[in-house]
Amino acid sequence: MNEKELPPHFREDNLSEDTKTLISSLPSYKDSEGNLYNYKGCWYYPNTLQGVLNYEKGFKPQETDIILASFPKSGTTWLKALTIALFERLKTDTYSDHVLQSDNPHGLVPFLEMSLYLKSSTPDLSKFSSPRVFSTHMPFHTLQLPLKGSPCKVVYVCRNVKDVLVSLWYFRSAHLQKEVEMESLFEPLCKGVGFFGPFWEHVLSYWRGSLEDPKQILFMRYEEMKSEPTAQVKRLAEFLGCPFTEEEEEDGSVDKLVELCSLRNLSGMEINNSGKTFNNVPYSTFFRKGEVGDFKNHLTTEMENKIDKIIQEKYNDSGLKF
Ligand code: A3P
Repeated sequence: MNEKELPPHFREDNLSEDTKTLISSLPSYKDSEGNLYNYKGCWYYPNTLQGVLNYEKGFKPQETDIILASFPKSGTTWLKALTIALFERLKTDTYSDHVLQSDNPHGLVPFLEMSLYLKSSTPDLSKFSSPRVFSTHMPFHTLQLPLKGSPCKVVYVCRNVKDVLVSLWYFRSAHLQKEVEMESLFEPLCKGVGFFGPFWEHVLSYWRGSLEDPKQILFMRYEEMKSEPTAQVKRLAEFLGCPFTEEEEEDGSVDKLVELCSLRNLSGMEINNSGKTFNNVPYSTFFRKGEVGDFKNHLTTEMENKIDKIIQEKYNDSGLKF
């Protein structure tokens, strides 16, 4: 893939002179899609790094802001859909003509570093009404700098790293339109290199943040959202300050919302089959199987053992279990 065909957040054609100078002093790593640079412990493609720097410089939080955070392929799209649906139900009680039918969750909740702040530290955010809902793949230690002192809320969704790896493998293969080697993603993941990696420190940054300030950070798990969607959606609604009323619980509103945002329902919507993100990624590639444990169909026992060993080392004394 040449530079022109890559989506903007992978490219390096939008760097300020200061960023070019910074990049020349950063550790770098080349993968199949370009050069990655390590900034404050996290790996970014160049334009995304510019987006991170723009965000650090220019983001001004509002008290009611909500930021949905994740490592790529952990359930970001689902969390976005659920959050939108939770606030939308306060405006309308009908699911026909729902905003999720006219736009994809990524269009409705753009990424800070890969979309809104990609090109400027002062983007026009006037179209967002309160509560503004944004998303990010940045680790918490980077996200939190401009948030200091703000009561805005952060929701993190975490997923079993083995399923994240398989999901990423499908996603990359779909983009490159050829099956990439699993090894080419597995080894960098284990070493902690790769876009937004290391995975381990990413998860830990939000896990620790949620322990320190559970009112600011909600730590959710994809597997729990799958096994007990109703309970997890209620937990999300309470955290976001829009809990379900008794009446809503009795009239089946929670289950209706869960169904609206189900993989089956979202992936069947016209918009999600025909549309693309602003940076040309087909919406359809964000929906696949959504299965817990799909890694068993794709990873060798050696791969699993290697990941298990890293998990043990990294999370040993963190209280975080996989
Ligand atoms: P699989 O590739 O394992 O199927 P992200 O949104 O962070 O990019 O993650 C994509 C993963 O979430 C994909 O996993 C996708 O199928 C799954 N997913 C997308 N929408 C979902 C939904 N509404 N419910 C459950 N899983 C969903």
